Amino acid sequence: MTTLYEGAFAKVNLTLDVLGKRPDGYHDLQSVMQTISIRDDVEIDVGTGKPWTLSCSAEGIPTDERNLAWKAARVFCDSTGKDPEGISIRITKRIPSGAGLGGGSADAAAVLRALNRHYGEPLSILALAELGSQVGSDVPFCTLTGTAMVEGRGERLRPLPPMPDCTFVVCKPDFSVSTPELYRKLDTVAIPVHPDNRAMENALIAGDLQAVADQLYNVFDPVVTADHLELNYIKSICNSYGSLGQQMTGSGSAVFAIMPSFEYAAVVCNMLKDNFPGIFIAKPI
Ligand code: C5P
Repeated sequence: MTTLYEGAFAKVNLTLDVLGKRPDGYHDLQSVMQTISIRDDVEIDVGTGKPWTLSCSAEGIPTDERNLAWKAARVFCDSTGKDPEGISIRITKRIPSGAGLGGGSADAAAVLRALNRHYGEPLSILALAELGSQVGSDVPFCTLTGTAMVEGRGERLRPLPPMPDCTFVVCKPDFSVSTPELYRKLDTVAIPVHPDNRAMENALIAGDLQAVADQLYNVFDPVVTADHLELNYIKSICNSYGSLGQQMTGSGSAVFAIMPSFEYAAVVCNMLKDNFPGIFIAKPI
């Protein structure tokens, strides 16, 4: 039996645009995604000689074939024809669930990377990411990691220059949003403002952190904020204490702020932690 170890890193959406509904019921997206340093740890025993198992340090997360990490292992074995002769997956969870931080997708992506490495890299990183789209829309980006333009359902990836060094504050309020419901809601309203993805790409090419912060935009943010005004409270505290820009990530409910330094981030954490214990300081990766 061999034990594999892999980090599973969260993501934030620097931009998120929904372009339209597709015949398959999904939506075409255009999003600049960024990996951040909030991480789960994934350990995989390969060759246990027993039925597959999965355990997770957090409660309320499925520990069977419904878990994206389990699905990823299944998809990897089916598509490469490898038989691990028993797999046991253990997830130490730190990425909050229902946050728009891609926690489940990050775990799945870590399983894909770990198994691919174990078997001598039969798949290139881009082929592995493409395989991830069978598991979930955010899995391809979480497999690639870094900074990328993500399009289609989430399976078309184009790496971008890395985000300039900065410190994030990430704050997960005590509610979660159903992603399918949010997409359905968006289908019923006109989207008044769209992100300027070209300008975001240019800001990254220029390495201009303030320009990156100025181009943050997520079409889901106003829709969720309208029902949950505490998101505005979190954003206003970040803004008052020196944030360069702040917004909700993915379909929520976490908000992230780009801070100029660790010291500024620590002050924001101090201001928010009593009302919002799900608060983190992170770096871009
Ligand atoms: O692919 P994933 O399971 O992460 O998607 C969750 C839900 O989000 C889907 O069932 C769908 O309702 C919605 N979705 C979408 N278009 C995308 C990604 C997700 O409509 N590109």
